[in-house]
Amino acid sequence: MHTAEYLPEQPTEISSILQGGYNHPLLRSWQHERQLTKDMFIFPLFVSDKENEEEPIPSLPNIKRFGVNKLIPYVGGLVKKGLKAVILFGVPLKEGVKDPVGTAADDPNGPVIMAIKALRAAFPELYIMCDVCLCEFTSHGHCGVLYEDGSINTRLSVRRLAAVAVNYAKAGANSVAPSDMVDGRVKAIKQGLVDAGLAHKTFVMSYSAKFSGNLYGPFRDAACSSPGQGDRKCYQLPSGGKGLARRALLRDISEGADGILVKPSTFYLDIVKEASAICQDYPVGCYHVSGEYAMLHAAAEKGVVDLKTIAFEAHYGFLRAGARIIISYFTPEFLEWLDEPVPM
Ligand code: PBG
Ligand code: ZN
Repeated sequence: MHTAEYLPEQPTEISSILQGGYNHPLLRSWQHERQLTKDMFIFPLFVSDKENEEEPIPSLPNIKRFGVNKLIPYVGGLVKKGLKAVILFGVPLKEGVKDPVGTAADDPNGPVIMAIKALRAAFPELYIMCDVCLCEFTSHGHCGVLYEDGSINTRLSVRRLAAVAVNYAKAGANSVAPSDMVDGRVKAIKQGLVDAGLAHKTFVMSYSAKFSGNLYGPFRDAACSSPGQGDRKCYQLPSGGKGLARRALLRDISEGADGILVKPSTFYLDIVKEASAICQDYPVGCYHVSGEYAMLHAAAEKGVVDLKTIAFEAHYGFLRAGARIIISYFTPEFLEWLDEPVPM
């Protein structure tokens, strides 16, 4: 044996020995500052106005659009597995329902209000959140009310969004989450809730740092909410706009938001980290959006990644960046995965 020639010239420094700390699955779990838990997950639900139908969404694997009658048994299965919170998106599919101001958004017989009431009656403990936006309900597919030239009419948009949010809260929603990105809507919503005597029992979760980009495609298929003309770049943030994101976070807090969201997630972890610092006294959430979800599925289908392993890795990233709440299409899977030994 020529052991001597293989010895390093310098002995390894004691401080260089790290593997003692993570050589066992239990140790690896101890290295996590925080663990994923079921109560962090909010599951997005697409509710259509075809009461008895359920329809798969080809670009969003395992996710369906449910009519209100099909929704209850589906959600019941998830509640049994530990589902705590949902966020509702209305999808009007019937002909002639969309108009320039999104009247269908808070139609008492429309999908969102009907779903709030049905879920509230069936699952008294379930935390019901509602996305507040107009794009699913407007004939032009934009998130607010428009001027003739197609630009956002801030005053009318804010007034309409506040009315919708208040009507969701009146119907029994625990939380309203404005995703429209129209300036000033958080304040109007909060004031509307105060005036309606509902502010003390409604959580205003603002999508504050919502970036425009290429990751919302499958959602727009699911919600039929693509703009007819133009894009959302004049209200959603440019992807390099870190300063704008900080200002939007501070603004929404000052306007009365109870919690804030960053969206998308994986490509914006620096913003999640910033948000957890700027909004350290608030629950900070992130939305693992449709495009991110679909990409992981596509990669898994190609055999590039293992779906469960990559999903845990992505969601641990959100925790490290400081998120306390995660809106995720993987929620049904995590409700099962978190009952199994966690991959470590
Ligand atoms: C509505 C809304 C969108 C998403 C959440 N709320 C789409 C958009 O802004 O076009 C995207 C969520 C996802 O992609 O999963 N404004
Ligand atoms: Zn919208």
